[in-house]
Amino acid sequence: MAIEIEQPSVGLSKVAVSETHGEDSPYFAGWKAYDEDPYDESNNPSGVIQMGLAENQVSFDLLEKFLEQNSEAARWGNNISGFRENALFQDYHGLLSFRKAMASFMEQIRGGRAKFNPDRVVLTAGATAANELLTFILADPGDALLVPTPYYPGFDRDLRWRTGVKIVPVHCDSSNNFQITPQALEAAYNNAEAMNIKVKGVLITNPSNPLGATIQRKVLEEVLDFVTRKNIHLVSDEIYSGSVFSSSEFVSIAEVLETRNYKDSERVHIVYSLSKDLGLPGFRVGTIYSYNDKVVTTARRMSSFTLISSQTQQLLASMLSDKEFSENYIKTNRERLRKRYQMIIDGLRNAGIECLKGNAGLFCWMNLSPLLEKPTRECELALWKSILHEVKLNISPGSSCHCSEPGWFRVCFANMSEQTLEIALKRIHDFMEQRKMIKSSNLSSQ
Ligand SMILES: Cc1ncc(COP(=O)(O)O)c(C=O)c1O
Repeated sequence: MAIEIEQPSVGLSKVAVSETHGEDSPYFAGWKAYDEDPYDESNNPSGVIQMGLAENQVSFDLLEKFLEQNSEAARWGNNISGFRENALFQDYHGLLSFRKAMASFMEQIRGGRAKFNPDRVVLTAGATAANELLTFILADPGDALLVPTPYYPGFDRDLRWRTGVKIVPVHCDSSNNFQITPQALEAAYNNAEAMNIKVKGVLITNPSNPLGATIQRKVLEEVLDFVTRKNIHLVSDEIYSGSVFSSSEFVSIAEVLETRNYKDSERVHIVYSLSKDLGLPGFRVGTIYSYNDKVVTTARRMSSFTLISSQTQQLLASMLSDKEFSENYIKTNRERLRKRYQMIIDGLRNAGIECLKGNAGLFCWMNLSPLLEKPTRECELALWKSILHEVKLNISPGSSCHCSEPGWFRVCFANMSEQTLEIALKRIHDFMEQRKMIKSSNLSSQ
C-alpha cells in the first residue's frame, strides 16, 4: 500500500530519499482513490470498485472448510510443547515438512511434469522478498535486469529501490500479442550496452501479469537460448502458475530445463508464492527455487531478513501435504477462475470492448485504445482518470506497467463477488453507451 512521507528536516540515506520506490505511479494512486471511497453494496453503493488488485478470493470457502475440519493445524499443535517448538524455531532453512509440502505443491500445479527438490527451496516472505533477494544476489548497484513489458508495477520497487539495480524494458506490443521475441531481447540488451549498463539477467513472469496469458514453450526456449548466449541469469516469476485455467496450457521453465537435461540450469531461478494461487497474500509465503548451489546457499542466508513465521509454516505444511485437499483446491480454483474470466470477457465484449486472449491469472488485459483521442500516454491517463472518478472503477493503466502502446488496461476480476463484478460490468457498459452517444451527436453536429 502506498504511503506518503513528509520531507524530513534531518538527513536520511540515499535509499530513503530515492524516487525508485515506484509508488508514485497511477497503479498505487488508484488504490488510494479506492481506499478513500470503497464500494459497499449496502453502505456505499456508488463507491469505487477495486479492479486494480490482483487478489484471489474465489476459493476462500475451500480454505475455511479445511480449517474447520483440521482445527489443530491452525492452533499451536496438539499440546504445550507444540507452542514452545513454534515459539523457539528460527532456523532459516525453514521447517523441512513445509519445504517438502511446497515442493510437492509446485509439482502438483505443473501436473507432475516438473520435479522440485525440497533442499533447493528457499523460503521468503512472499514473492516481493524473493524477487528483491534474487536481484541482490545476481546484480550489483548500477547493473540491470531486462524485463519484458508490460510488467507488474511492483517490480519497479522490488527490483530497483533497495538494490540500486536498474530495469531495462524489453518492449513487447500487440502486433504479436505482446510475446517476447529474440529481437526485442537483443534490442533491450544493446540499449543497455549503449548506456554503458551491464545486463545481469532477464526476469520474465509466466503466466504474465498483466497479460493473463502463459508464455509458449518456443518463447521460453528462445529466452533460455538468449541468456545462455549472453552468459546471464534468467528469473522466472511463476507466481500465477496454479491460476492457469487448464494445467496443460502452462509450461514452466523447470520443464524446459528437464528436456535439456538441466544443461546450463545454474543460471535459472524460479520465484513462487502462495499469495495468488491460494489467495493468501497476508500470510507472506514465497519461495526461490534455484538450480545454482551458491545462489541457494546465499539466498538462504539472506532470507534471515524475510522469514516466514513458524506457525504459518506449520499450518500450511499440514494444508498442502493433504493431497486430497490440494488436488481438489487446485482443480476447483482453476474452474472458478476460468468461469470468472469468461464472465468478464463476455461482459466487456457486450459493452464493445475486446481483451487480449488470456488463459490464466486474476485479470484480463483490456484494449480501450479506440477510445483515445490520440494514441498517447497523456490520453490514456485522462481516460483512466475519468474511469476512476466518473465510472468509479479502479483499473490499472498500461503505462503504469510500462506498456509502450497506449490504451491498454489491466482489469482484476477475482477480488470481488460475482454480484459486484456484475455491477462493475454494468458501469462499464453504461460508460461505453454514453461515449457512443456523445460520438454520434458530435458527428451529426459536424
Ligand atoms: C508478478 C508478481 N510478482 C510478485 C508479486 C508479489 O507477490 P507477493 O504477495 O507474494 O509478495 C506480485 C503481486 O501482485 C506479482 O503479480
